[in-house]
Amino acid sequence: MTLTAPFTLKGRSLCSIDDLTKEEILYLLDSANEPLNPSALQGKIIAHLFLEPSTRTRLSFEAATLRQGGQVISVAEPLQTSLSKGESLSDMIKMVSSYADLIVLRHPQDGAARWAAEMADVPIINAGDGAHEHPTQALLDLFAIRQSQGRLEGLSIALGGDLKYGRTIHSLLKALAHFKPRLFFICPEGLEPSSETLERLKQKRILFSFHPRLSDVLPSVDLLYMTRIQKERLKGGLFEPICLDRSLLNSVQDHFKILHPLPRNEEIAPDCDNTPHAFYFEQAKGGLNVRAKLLSELL
Ligand code: CP
Repeated sequence: MTLTAPFTLKGRSLCSIDDLTKEEILYLLDSANEPLNPSALQGKIIAHLFLEPSTRTRLSFEAATLRQGGQVISVAEPLQTSLSKGESLSDMIKMVSSYADLIVLRHPQDGAARWAAEMADVPIINAGDGAHEHPTQALLDLFAIRQSQGRLEGLSIALGGDLKYGRTIHSLLKALAHFKPRLFFICPEGLEPSSETLERLKQKRILFSFHPRLSDVLPSVDLLYMTRIQKERLKGGLFEPICLDRSLLNSVQDHFKILHPLPRNEEIAPDCDNTPHAFYFEQAKGGLNVRAKLLSELL
C-alpha cells in the first residue's frame, strides 16, 4: 500500500523541525515503513554539501538518493571547494542551485541552513547547522522511538549528556513536544538546555526535571537518549561526561531502550551494546528510509 498525504511537501525546505507540522511528521514516519521506490528520484541530482564532518548523515542521504534512482554530487571536505579561496557560502549556494534539484547542507554555523534556503532556488535540507538544529535526525529519532516503544505519546524519556550544544537535542525536544512526554534531564553543570528551550517546554506544558545521576531515573523511564559532549563547540571548560555502563542496566524495565544519535565517545560503554536495551545502531539504520522518504516528498 502506498500512503497518500492530504498535503504536499514538494518544493519546501527543511531547516528546522518546526517547519513540519505534527501531521506531516507522522506521515513521514508512516511512509518510512514502506519499501523504497527505486525510481522515485529518477532524473534528479542531489547536492550533498558537508562543510563539517559526518558519517551517518552524509552516507545515509547518499544511499537514500542512489537507492531511489537519483544521482549525487557532493562535497565532503570544505578545503576542496572554492570556499578555501574566499568564496562566500551565498555564492556557492547560488551556483549549486543551478546544478542540482535539492541541496543537503551541513554547516558549522547556527542558522546557516535557513540563510542558504533564502539564497537557493531549490529546496535545502538542514543536515546540521552548528549547535542549532538537526531536523532529519529528529525524524529518525522519532522513528526509532516509535519502533522501540510502539508509540510516541506519553513516554517517560531521560536525556543525558550535553543538552546545551547538542543540535540533535534541540530538534528532538521541539519534535517531542507534540507527544506530551515526561522528561528527565541528566547533564554536567553548565551543559543544561538553554533558558529559551526550557521556557518553550513550559509553554507547551511539558513536565521536566533535572537529576544528578542516571541511576536516579533509569528504573522509571521508557528510554534514555544519550549524547556526547560536543567538544568542538565548547568555548573553554572541561566537563565530566555522564556515562552509562552495563551495571546501570540492572534496574531498568524490560522494554527500556538506549538511543544515541552517534558518534559516541565514552558516554555509552561498549558492554551495553550486546544487551536487549541497546537501540542506537537500529536507530541509525532507520535513518536511510526516513531520509529517502523525505527526499522523495520534497522533490
Ligand atoms: N548523528 C549524526 O549526525 O551523525 P554524523 O555526524 O556521523 O552524520
